[in-house]
Amino acid sequence: MKLLSFVSILLLLILSACQSNNRYSLSSPDTSNQVDIFFNNGKLSYTVSKDGEQLISPSRLGLIFEEVDLSTFDKLSVISETYNNSSWETIWGENKIIKDNHHFLSLEAKSGKHIVEIHFKAFNDGVAYRYIVPEQKLDSLHLTQELSQFNMAQKGDYWWIHADYDSYELLYNQTKLAKIDTAHTPITAKFKSGKHISIHEAALVDYASMTLKNNGEGFDCDLVPWPDGIKVKSEKTLKSPWRVIITGNNAGDLIESDMVLNLNEPNKLEQTDWIEPMRYMGIWWDMHLNTKTWHAGANHGATTEYAMEMIDFASANGFRGLLIEGWNLGWETWSNWNFTKAYPDFDIEKVQQYAKDNNMTIIGHHETGGKVAYEYEPQMKEAFEFYGDLGIKAVKTGYVGKIDNGQYHHGQWMVNHYQRALELAAKNKVAVVAHEPIKATGLRRTYPNFLSREGVRGQEYNAWANPSNPPNHTTIIPFTRGLAGPTDFTPGAFQMTYEEYREPGFPSRVSTTLAKQLALYVTIYSPVQMACDLPKHYKRHPEMFEFIKSVPVDWEYSKVLNAEIGEYFTIARKDRKSSNWYLGSITNEEGREFEITLDFLEEGKTYQAIIYQDGKEAHWENNPYDHKIYQKAVSAKESIQIQLASGGGCAIEFIAE
Ligand code: NOJ
Ligand code: CA
Repeated sequence: MKLLSFVSILLLLILSACQSNNRYSLSSPDTSNQVDIFFNNGKLSYTVSKDGEQLISPSRLGLIFEEVDLSTFDKLSVISETYNNSSWETIWGENKIIKDNHHFLSLEAKSGKHIVEIHFKAFNDGVAYRYIVPEQKLDSLHLTQELSQFNMAQKGDYWWIHADYDSYELLYNQTKLAKIDTAHTPITAKFKSGKHISIHEAALVDYASMTLKNNGEGFDCDLVPWPDGIKVKSEKTLKSPWRVIITGNNAGDLIESDMVLNLNEPNKLEQTDWIEPMRYMGIWWDMHLNTKTWHAGANHGATTEYAMEMIDFASANGFRGLLIEGWNLGWETWSNWNFTKAYPDFDIEKVQQYAKDNNMTIIGHHETGGKVAYEYEPQMKEAFEFYGDLGIKAVKTGYVGKIDNGQYHHGQWMVNHYQRALELAAKNKVAVVAHEPIKATGLRRTYPNFLSREGVRGQEYNAWANPSNPPNHTTIIPFTRGLAGPTDFTPGAFQMTYEEYREPGFPSRVSTTLAKQLALYVTIYSPVQMACDLPKHYKRHPEMFEFIKSVPVDWEYSKVLNAEIGEYFTIARKDRKSSNWYLGSITNEEGREFEITLDFLEEGKTYQAIIYQDGKEAHWENNPYDHKIYQKAVSAKESIQIQLASGGGCAIEFIAE
């Protein structure tokens, strides 16, 4: 018996020793996640497991350039293996302190004289890898294919949008793998075992966006090309973004993951005190409802007079920003833009001074209409200086339509354009909120003036699209688009249908209850949150508007309380500037009741909870405004019962006593 076990241990040792020639393993500090890298017949592949359960089955690694093939190798060696356990403070965010605890492994793969490094990191919330091509004897690097695969080891449900090279403004599908053709990242799956994964990328700089193509087993990386078909062009060296696989035991784990931020470089801006998370209103919804126009004329929205009226309302209600769209020349044709010249009925200096006098700032606007190369780029420097000189603290950029030089929104050229705009904005102490953006990949850590971006089928679709966003839309977004970073969804619609403004039978509407609009300020994370609707609509429900007036936009800590993708989501967040907590809970078409344990509150403290919830008769479709507000003293030892109507939600403010 003893001899037998000795022999089997010896065998095992020989086997693993043997394997270790061709296999490298890296585990997360808590050992839950493991990435195994295999080197067989010159080819590199990897798998990912969590708690011993395979999530990613053998998947290829490698790069193919016009100049050199880095997909088959003669030699693989370890360069370094390190451990990191540190933490860092965010300038703004969902959490003040972020732990960066991971194991790191770098490998060098050689193909003749040519080399590529592949770096791996294993965190407790997932694994990531990237390629680095150091300088070597090559005249240029034209990447034609990144071979990265993400093959799926298990069956499950996926939430995904089609990989449009120009847009993310799509409704999410929920299907099995077989029904997916191509997909944007983040794409999220819930496996049969209950494990969740989301595939995305971090630190997308000077590279093309990764989309995914179904290969039958899972996905192949499919980079968004240049017009000539090349994926990424570089002169001497190349660094891919991190390929990120977030893993979790439940949907909430994905939300609480910090990997995307941890995989980005620390803040590069010397001074950051001018960067300000804020709530804002806008001369905006009017244009989407067709009650005003962007261009000048009888119904022009951006007039000096209307801007001052909006500032009066917004400042009286504690808002810091007023977005003004349609003040500069170009809107008649969406071309021949002039980013510094106003229509004659708008005095930008006067309006910004009035904003300042009322403790506010204009949020500027650069709609390019896709005229990026030939109209925006030549004016960009001057346009950001113009806003910077006026003390305008943030600019919303926009990229509606095809790009004028034939590039895709998500290709390398545009990735570099968004970066140029961001750095230019920073130079002028201006923050950026990009619409029709490149997806977020955590760059807000490095450039904290990148406050937020759209890249989602946002509230605007509820003003004019057919179909508008269905009730489950916002129960999917946090687990897909939201994992990438802050989302400028623009919540706060207080008028759900538009009989006053539109023809009978108009198909668009807001498909939520009023209480759910409040909850979105907590469930959708963004350091700039708009109150999108018109003052006269807020005046119809002033008691509900109170929540929007007090909800913070910068958090010390965020904790998921319950979550099921596409069904419901409840999260509590602690204000960074006070001891108050805020809770948002939302549901899809199904009404629900939750018992919420309040153990996230500070022990020993009493809080006045103000609960904004759906009324008994509320329903998104036929009774969206029915609501109930009540107040209750609570402590961490208690729990609270909340009711969510069909398409409904609940928002709670916990004021520390
Ligand atoms: C699309 C943006 O998403 C929207 O917010 C903006 O009002 C229009 N473009 C016009 O720039
Ligand atoms: Ca848009």
